[in-house]
Amino acid sequence: MKPKILLIGKSGQLGRELNQLLPVLGDLVALDRNQLDLLDPRELRQSIRAIHPGLIINAAAYTAVDRAESDEAAARAINSDAPGVMATEAKEIGACADSLFDRLRLRRIPFQPLLRRGFYKSD
Ligand SMILES: NC(=O)c1ccc[n+]([C@@H]2O[C@H](COP(=O)([O-])OP(=O)(O)OC[C@H]3O[C@@H](n4cnc5c(N)ncnc54)[C@H](OP(=O)(O)O)[C@@H]3O)[C@@H](O)[C@H]2O)c1
Repeated sequence: MKPKILLIGKSGQLGRELNQLLPVLGDLVALDRNQLDLLDPRELRQSIRAIHPGLIINAAAYTAVDRAESDEAAARAINSDAPGVMATEAKEIGACADSLFDRLRLRRIPFQPLLRRGFYKSD
């Protein structure tokens, strides 16, 4: 049976490509910012629980790297807190990365950034 895939951030550069490619892999539910705003963790939690996907793909991000330095709260909420909520909810509903890694026999590679280049993606 094909998995239900939740694609978040379907209207960005990466999201548009994934939105075209993913339907062959599963039943795709693709959302843009108007349908799911990552600044609202409660909305994010409710959406994931309602959609109940087998796989969550996050293509949304705060990508204005220069602005992120002065708009730290929003950048952190979108690039760090929201993915944290996704991971927690994914685990709750069995769509967690652990089971995907196990099923595909993938090896986790520990990530240690050597250089902090600014706030953007520092988490
Ligand atoms: N593009 C690449 O070649 C590439 C390569 C490797 C990795 N990546 C990574 O992929 C991610 C996306 O990159 P991108 O190039 O696709 O960036 P992008 O074109 O700027 O797209 C970012 C998307 O995030 C959405 N977004 C921003 N704030 C949001 C919010 N509060 N709630 C929901 N959605 C929100 C934007 O919505 P709006 O359209 O409404 O603004 C936009 O659709 C980044 O983490 C990037 O580092 C990209």
